[in-house]
Amino acid sequence: MNFAIFGATGQVGQVMRSIALERNLPIDELRFFASPRSAGKTLQFGSRVITVENSYEADFSGIDIALFSNGASASLELAPKVAMAGAIVVDNSSAWRMDPQVPLVVPEVNAAELAKIPKNIVANPNCTTMVCMSTINTLATNFGLLRIVGSTYQAVSGAGITGVDELANQLERGGNRLRELTFYGNCLELGDTSQFEEPIAGNVIPKAGKFVDDETVEEHKFRDEARKILSLPDLRVSMTCVRVPVFTGHSIALNIELESDFELEQVRKLIKETNGVVVTEVPTPQKAAGNDENYVGRIRRDNTVANGVSLFISGDNLRKGAALNAIQIAEALIDSGRFT
Ligand SMILES: NC(=O)c1ccc[n+]([C@@H]2O[C@H](COP(=O)([O-])OP(=O)(O)OC[C@H]3O[C@@H](n4cnc5c(N)ncnc54)[C@H](OP(=O)(O)O)[C@@H]3O)[C@@H](O)[C@H]2O)c1
Repeated sequence: MNFAIFGATGQVGQVMRSIALERNLPIDELRFFASPRSAGKTLQFGSRVITVENSYEADFSGIDIALFSNGASASLELAPKVAMAGAIVVDNSSAWRMDPQVPLVVPEVNAAELAKIPKNIVANPNCTTMVCMSTINTLATNFGLLRIVGSTYQAVSGAGITGVDELANQLERGGNRLRELTFYGNCLELGDTSQFEEPIAGNVIPKAGKFVDDETVEEHKFRDEARKILSLPDLRVSMTCVRVPVFTGHSIALNIELESDFELEQVRKLIKETNGVVVTEVPTPQKAAGNDENYVGRIRRDNTVANGVSLFISGDNLRKGAALNAIQIAEALIDSGRFT
């Protein structure tokens, strides 16, 4: 099997490289691509040293699976070219997710969608959607799903390496004055706010992504992607997406309204048995960071509706939220016999 990683120099690309090694992907040839800025750099992969290629000057023939994490605009331009050259592209960006001819896949939930890949492109869901899809699917399958209301707590790494740098720089610049600065509401002194518009150190920002209407792009993505993945086109979803000063690990507080009644113990048991999920009393992004599983806790009744469940989930946005899911899709494609 010949693999390629596009965006190999980025955060998700780096995690893809380490997960590909951890999971022993059956790799013969492996190529790394990035922007022209990184062309010629070398990256280690196990015992191999691989030179990063310029994505705009390469010959793409011979690649079987191309894992993309190079942003939506690069993906819009490059994915069709790589797919035309014969590879199946598994894309992490938002570019293709809502294309009706592109399956949007969480293998634990809807791997069957991989049977048809008309454009040779498969999309990976948004990292926030991914944190909770398996859990919500378990509830939907067993009790029917009517409505989701939630708030997210999204890490800065979800906004790329520039988001990580912005928080790190603000923390460094604030130093031991951060307490005083935040106490007096004087955080403007923390410097660059180009990524998040407001200071992120010592703060929370209830606007993740740009406004589309009175909702943000992240809030739209959650609703649209959940409907497509769960095959529930009319699912009612109300989400508030919030950026928090956490480096890695997205969290989400959910109120889920189900169609039929349930025993809480039965809900806990079913979630515990869900693939890729760990039930814990207090899930946190730190617990989740570096791990493959999504951590689910605070499972309780929401008595404001007839059949309501409240819970809290934390997951690593760079692993299951991006790189791991893409690699699990690649594994499912290989297992399906498509390349034999
Ligand atoms: N971060 C997350 O939690 C997360 C989760 C799910 C999905 N994603 C998606 O994954 C993608 C990458 O995220 P990231 O956090 O890894 O970002 P990142 O750290 O900023 O890395 C971006 C990567 O894309 C490459 N790139 C940037 N512009 C390019 C262009 N015009 N042409 C070709 N390559 C280009 C970069 O190459 P250079 O090094 O040469 O600049 C780098 O390898 C994004 O689409 C993002 O939406 C991210």
